[in-house]
Amino acid sequence: MFEDRLAQRMQGVQTSPVRELLKLAQRPDIISFAGGLPDPELIDTEGLAEATAYATGEQARHAWQYGTTEGFMPLREQIVRLMATRGASVTPAELLVTTGSQQGIDLIGRVMLDPGDVVVVERPTYLAALQVFGLYQARVEGIEGDAEGMRTDLLEAFLERERPKMIYLITNFSNPTGATLSLERRRHLLELAARHGVMVIEDDPYGELVFDAQASLPPLWALADEVPGAKPWTVYLSSLSKIVAPGLRVAWMALPEWLYGKVTIAKQATDLHTSTLSQATAAHYLASDRLHARLPHMRATYREKAGVLMSALRSRLGGAITFEEPRGGMFVWARFAGGVDASVLAPRAIASGVMFLPGHSFFAGEPDHARVRLSYSLPDRAGIEEGVRRLASVMD
Ligand SMILES: Cc1ncc(COP(=O)(O)O)c(C=O)c1O
Repeated sequence: MFEDRLAQRMQGVQTSPVRELLKLAQRPDIISFAGGLPDPELIDTEGLAEATAYATGEQARHAWQYGTTEGFMPLREQIVRLMATRGASVTPAELLVTTGSQQGIDLIGRVMLDPGDVVVVERPTYLAALQVFGLYQARVEGIEGDAEGMRTDLLEAFLERERPKMIYLITNFSNPTGATLSLERRRHLLELAARHGVMVIEDDPYGELVFDAQASLPPLWALADEVPGAKPWTVYLSSLSKIVAPGLRVAWMALPEWLYGKVTIAKQATDLHTSTLSQATAAHYLASDRLHARLPHMRATYREKAGVLMSALRSRLGGAITFEEPRGGMFVWARFAGGVDASVLAPRAIASGVMFLPGHSFFAGEPDHARVRLSYSLPDRAGIEEGVRRLASVMD
């Protein structure tokens, strides 16, 4: 009865299955492979307490006051430094601090999408990005991906035919697949963007969580400097959520000049600015260099936990499940063999005390119901092994 009172874009919109499952993950008896939550042991509570004390002490005049929409300047200066370690040159004037990367995706949608516009995503992709594009009533089209990320060879004909507004993709250790876009495809993508005049939105929350630091690839934002005409078509998003603490809700976008002012206006309309307390805390934390010092341990921990999950899956489930080995990030993207439907299995798994995310909601268009996303980031090693034992018991 009330449904027809809603804006058209809200009719039929469903709550995110991840958020719903995450509510269950709070239960202490459940081992959760469901969310992309950082390992609690890796959150630097001591360093963050120190940074919070500084923010509320020496920085109190800023931390409790309104701030600029663009973001707290000392934080933007620290982000410039962080971006340099990723091989990307960016100025504070190109950076907009956002309340999580999720807000960045939403702002881009709000500024760029009219109903019916086409957005290209990798198939599969981050489901909360699909949710945003759906809310702006875009037509989302998936381009197949493989172990090297989006198949840019399939993109060319598509761009000519459909003239999309933007391409959204997660370049490093994608959510959900764990795949990384190869250097060759990064260059190809930028050439296509420049030739066809299509925005490329690069979402990179996981790049620092590379298992082998030598294997890091430069962001599209950096490579765009080498591809004639590509830079104005490139937006870069990243976040402190996965590498410092998601509770900070501090993230950023690097934007081309023509778009910066528009996105800033949209952010102003949304929340005026990101919490000044969080920004001052993040600025001090990044300035302390504790993140830099902790990254090797963080990478080693996730690499080891990925290994524990994969060997448990191999030994307990054998041929009943297949997967690609991730080289960073938080996810193993797996597939049940023998026609098992992951969303049918999920409630039975929860009843047995283990939770995973059925893969179907990550697909734009036709889903693969046998897919499952297993995150190894939250449980400890013993929890991972026990979780797989419980999963195996449900599959017997
Ligand atoms: C690919 C991707 N983009 C964006 C986000 C949102 O992160 P944030 O906490 O910065 O809003 C996530 C979180 O899981 C993610 O996986």
